[in-house]
Amino acid sequence: MKTIFWVVLTLIGVAAQAGARPELQIIGDAIVVPLTERTASAEMGERIFVSRESGHCVLCHQVAGLDAPFQGDIGPQLSDVGDRLSPAQLRLRIVDSSILNAQTIMPPYYRRQNLHRVASQYEGETVLTALQIEHLVAYLSQRRSDTP
Ligand code: HEC
Repeated sequence: MKTIFWVVLTLIGVAAQAGARPELQIIGDAIVVPLTERTASAEMGERIFVSRESGHCVLCHQVAGLDAPFQGDIGPQLSDVGDRLSPAQLRLRIVDSSILNAQTIMPPYYRRQNLHRVASQYEGETVLTALQIEHLVAYLSQRRSDTP
């Protein structure tokens, strides 16, 4: 009886870990598996892209037709980035662009190690959540030259 109890407990533990996806699988220049199983929304992604409180990607990037008072041009324009990059490639660049370019000035939005100068209470936390990253991937993969 006791043995069955421990087997069940172990299986629950393994299943919980699989849902959390603690490891990022980087293949080439892409992260193929979404960071969370929850459903992403391009509409939410647009809000995060513009919002000063969360992503604030418009600080450095432009997207044509976006309702934002100020859009910077330090980074490349992303109006048709969905033509250039797959969702998996977009995901890696938002998670941590320094994987591809060590000198990049783009902040890592989902890096959990090697973050210097973070206050200890934030250690291990990411700038954006897994779901926020997936909202951004959904939004940007829809930015294509053939969409109005
Ligand atoms: C401080 C400026 C800065 C901010 C803020 C920033 N980026 Fe970037 N981003 C860059 C630069 C510069 C590049 C060009 C590649 C490089 O230098 O690594 C880039 C590249 C990219 C690329 C690849 C584009 C391509 O054509 O290859 C994507 C996608 C991207 N950024 C998305 C985002 C998203 C989403 C956010 C907000 C969560 C964001 N960026 C915030 C500076 C920034």
